[in-house]
Amino acid sequence: MALDLNHIRNQFPILSTKVGKYPLVYFDNGATSQKPRVVIDAINRYYEQENANIHRGVHHLSQVSTDNYEKARRTIQEHLNAPHEHEIIFTKGTTDGINLIAESFGKLLTDGDEILITEMEHHSNIVPWQMLVERKGLTLRYIPMTNLGELDFSQLETLINEKTRLIAITHISNALGTINPIEDIIKKGHAVGAKVLIDAAQSLQHMRVDVQQLDCDFLVFSGHKVFGPTGVGILYGKEKLLNEMPPYQGGGDMIKTVSMSGTTYNELPHKFEAGTPNIIGGIGLGVAIEWLSGFNFEDIQQHETDLLEYATDALSKIDGIKIYGEAENKSSVISFLIEGTHPYDIGTLLNQQGIAVRTGHHCTQPIMEFFDIPGTIRASFSFYNTKEEIDQFIKALEKAIQMLR
Ligand code: ALA
Repeated sequence: MALDLNHIRNQFPILSTKVGKYPLVYFDNGATSQKPRVVIDAINRYYEQENANIHRGVHHLSQVSTDNYEKARRTIQEHLNAPHEHEIIFTKGTTDGINLIAESFGKLLTDGDEILITEMEHHSNIVPWQMLVERKGLTLRYIPMTNLGELDFSQLETLINEKTRLIAITHISNALGTINPIEDIIKKGHAVGAKVLIDAAQSLQHMRVDVQQLDCDFLVFSGHKVFGPTGVGILYGKEKLLNEMPPYQGGGDMIKTVSMSGTTYNELPHKFEAGTPNIIGGIGLGVAIEWLSGFNFEDIQQHETDLLEYATDALSKIDGIKIYGEAENKSSVISFLIEGTHPYDIGTLLNQQGIAVRTGHHCTQPIMEFFDIPGTIRASFSFYNTKEEIDQFIKALEKAIQMLR
């Protein structure tokens, strides 16, 4: 069944705003998604009627907050099909989740162990590993890329070996849209005893992700890219692994007992949740995920594929355009450059016509280095976007090119 786009768009107040005299065309969903009314209402209701700290009080509001926060954890557990709710750890976002694993799982690694990433990772899935490798005698390897923006698996047999302890890989490239064959990588990693971490920051808003079906060991994502608030994210980890890992940060909530002679740690998930968390962030994320779960993901994917094909077709007709990222299996992201123009100039002129795109290196400098370019213009679509918006974008782009040439 096709999506009812009017009904969906009406749930997002920001989509009917204007930029100057132009209606907003929001194509920067890779950076952050807009928020539906249910999430905005939940945030307002929380601050107006329910605000209190969680896990700490016997009073009414504290219980209401705690119940709502823990309900969000269950909603997310169900959405990911995680076996246990204590395998769902609230974080600040994808970056925080990866840093948690690098810091905590990293402590279990020893000299000679290898970590494998890819050339198309976001900086947040490169830098924490480089920092870890600097601290310990580990080796960081990466799976290279092809000109199409796909992973080059020709050396995979050597790259995944008996020394590999962790493979950290993005499900979908934020800069190119490439959908990686993570099922296969997970199987190959497990065959040599490695654990596999999936960066799902760019996938959860587009497709159903089932951690049991994937059999991944860790999965991280950010709330703000899946229609929830900023400053909150999720780390899913297999219970056994999380139990083996030492705590990440010390503080309130992550302890069982503290005395001046030492501390014992709390059970999962609290062991990894030190300090007062982003309570409304977690509750808002639960509401966003519940809202998203109400859609049929086949419909979402069909619509987003239509948008991708429609936009790719229209863009391909523009003189001097080069699209970066031509993987066979691609999500609704198009990165491109226009010959003889700078991406920032195009971005600025598009903005003057109400179109929001991202320009720059997209926190993926190794991808830019691979293609030998300073950055790209990136249009990233969500399922609330329309073909009419793509028409507006193409018209605005043609005008911008005309002004710059
Ligand atoms: N990682 C986000 C993006 O791709 C911010 O734009």
